[in-house]
Amino acid sequence: MSKKKPAVAFGVDIGGSGIKGAPVNLTTGELAADRVRIPTPQPATPSAVAATVAEVVGRFGLDPQVPVGVTFPAVITHGVARSAANVDDSWIGTDVQQVVGAATGRSVLAVNDADAAGLAEVVYGAARGVDGVVLVVTLGTGIGSALVVDQHLVPNTELGHLEIDGYDAESRAADSARERENLSWAVWAARLQRYFDVVERLFSPDLIVVGGGVSKKHQSFLPLLDLHAPIVPARLRNAAGIVGAARLAADA
Ligand code: BGC
Repeated sequence: MSKKKPAVAFGVDIGGSGIKGAPVNLTTGELAADRVRIPTPQPATPSAVAATVAEVVGRFGLDPQVPVGVTFPAVITHGVARSAANVDDSWIGTDVQQVVGAATGRSVLAVNDADAAGLAEVVYGAARGVDGVVLVVTLGTGIGSALVVDQHLVPNTELGHLEIDGYDAESRAADSARERENLSWAVWAARLQRYFDVVERLFSPDLIVVGGGVSKKHQSFLPLLDLHAPIVPARLRNAAGIVGAARLAADA
């Protein structure tokens, strides 16, 4: 017998500066209540972060059966963090599902942040209903990637860490590189062009979706790119991680 799908699930986005959570209407992909944001504790150790996630979840008085999904900016396999590019090294080998589950007293699904955001764009956002190969790339502190093929997520692609021209790609092309080096839009776009040329050669996507905070300013850089695939801004903006995590938790 197939289980009835829940109408609402809860998503938590664990980021470097804030931990944000909200219930999500799984029919529309909209937040079902205002999100709560608590600054990420420093140092962002597993136990401190898990306690903050529990505080966020606790603000909502959720029914015990509401699924909870959390995003984390690292490779996540079977709930365990396997990398730590922009987070405390103590996360490597940490069972995120277990520590957050223990702190919240609920069963939790943990997923990579870009995978959650990408899945949300495919189900509810800019790539809604698009079959074939969709690549969602988030430009922020790092570069995150989600590869979705015929609506199925291929997790942990980590295309921010492609080595291009001898560099870890995100160290040159993330939005943090633009800010750190004070790059003009044109100079940054040239780096993105190089980045997406390599990515296109590897995957020949049918559609590329660009997310991350800077996607609000897509008019300043997306028109400067010349690619085979259409490249469009994400639609769910800063809710994408929450929405994707909730959806993946409900589907799990
Ligand atoms: C991490 C990815 C993450 C991305 C965006 C990268 O540095 O390796 O796991 O998805 O940053 O946060």
